[in-house]
Amino acid sequence: MAIDAEEPDRRDFLVLAASAFVTVGGALTLWPFIQQMNPDAGAQALASIEVDLAPVKEGQAITVLWRGKPVFIRHRTAEEIATAKAVDIKELIDEYARNDALPEDALATDPNRTKEGHENWLIMVGICTHLGCIPKGQALGDKKGDFGGWLCPCHGSHYDTAGRIRKGPAPRNLEVPVYGFISDTKIKIG
Ligand code: FES
Repeated sequence: MAIDAEEPDRRDFLVLAASAFVTVGGALTLWPFIQQMNPDAGAQALASIEVDLAPVKEGQAITVLWRGKPVFIRHRTAEEIATAKAVDIKELIDEYARNDALPEDALATDPNRTKEGHENWLIMVGICTHLGCIPKGQALGDKKGDFGGWLCPCHGSHYDTAGRIRKGPAPRNLEVPVYGFISDTKIKIG
């Protein structure tokens, strides 16, 4: 009885192991084949990412990698939103929204930098528009500059709580990539 009971288990294990090997082997063999058939398949796979925002509490920020670039995601406080909304466009160095989802001439109002109904989330490519350094302001102890957003350590560009350039040599606001909410707590970038 004991032998009978053991035999199927062992056989199952061998079958499972063989299946796993075949699956992995198959995947390894197929990948270059798929790539060859459709050169864009790999690029498309990386073209968009999904990010779960649930763990990011108000006042916190995370950085994710998308198409090789850092993307800043900040869960803004009510005060940060109010400060960003109170800014007159005329005070801005760059009056354009730089939001890839909007026309090029859309103005850099706070609503044009965020999504309606989700104004507490600011999502931007975290690359300084001066010479490409990564601004500070994501980590809790970081200096956030004179406008409470981000401070580029390379040549001192200050960005506000909507990611708009307010002081320093950077010519443009931080870029807002195309993204959408697929649920209340999940976004898809790209
Ligand atoms: S690269 Fe950011 S200020 Fe120069």
